[in-house]
Amino acid sequence: MSISVTPSSTARRATVREGGWRLDGRPGTLRDQVEQALRRLRVERIELLQLHRIDPGTPLADQLGTLRDLQAEGLVGRIGLSEVTVTELARAREIVDIASVQNRYNLLDREHEPVLDACAAAGMAFLPWRPVAWGKAGAEAEIAAVAADLGVTPTQVALAWLLHCSPVVLPIPGTARVEHLEENLAAADLDLTPAHRDRLDRLAEGAGTASGEG
Ligand SMILES: NC(=O)c1ccc[n+]([C@@H]2O[C@H](COP(=O)([O-])OP(=O)(O)OC[C@H]3O[C@@H](n4cnc5c(N)ncnc54)[C@H](OP(=O)(O)O)[C@@H]3O)[C@@H](O)[C@H]2O)c1
Repeated sequence: MSISVTPSSTARRATVREGGWRLDGRPGTLRDQVEQALRRLRVERIELLQLHRIDPGTPLADQLGTLRDLQAEGLVGRIGLSEVTVTELARAREIVDIASVQNRYNLLDREHEPVLDACAAAGMAFLPWRPVAWGKAGAEAEIAAVAADLGVTPTQVALAWLLHCSPVVLPIPGTARVEHLEENLAAADLDLTPAHRDRLDRLAEGAGTASGEG
């Protein structure tokens, strides 16, 4: 089981009316959120706890130190991060063992490729969120063409491409439909040819990034 902790709580409630989130990664807030999650999930331990965002207003050592304490208490198994840069990841790893990173990444949005490379080099899991981003910058036609060649769906092509990027990549597509779940799972068995991969690799050129907030 993996859950993400968004440093927020009181501060978030106070600012959400203004249309934004203010991060609150103070130790008391993080501990409180983990304890609440344990109660809601009715488990004694969260196997993978991902800090959803680093709070720039709280020392990183305090935030990760809290998660390390929770780990030492047996309430948390492994610790992960989300939306971090290579530098932030390196700083975090000086404080605590990091098992995973969850950054936005897909065929058309490779902004975090250096982070993926850092994860691959260190053997850490990289969990791309928003893993399926076909349909932007005229690229959908290219993906659809590869999909038609293979007799699969564009979503499956996008997921298969991610899985081919590195053995540390674990895409996390969200769905509320069983048929989409089955379709997405089947992408794991899809073999892309080198020619298809070349075609897909080139898609990011000129596509820019497709940012978004989690
Ligand atoms: N760390 C972060 O900052 C962050 C931010 C955002 C999300 N996340 C996490 O990332 C994961 C994915 O969330 P997401 O909302 O970004 O999901 P997503 O994978 O980007 O998109 C989900 C959407 O794709 C559709 N979909 C899924 N499979 C499909 C298929 N085979 N064919 C057509 N449409 C399909 C779903 O519709 P149906 O329901 O109809 O299938 C849903 O509308 C979640 O675990 C979420 O918590 C993390």
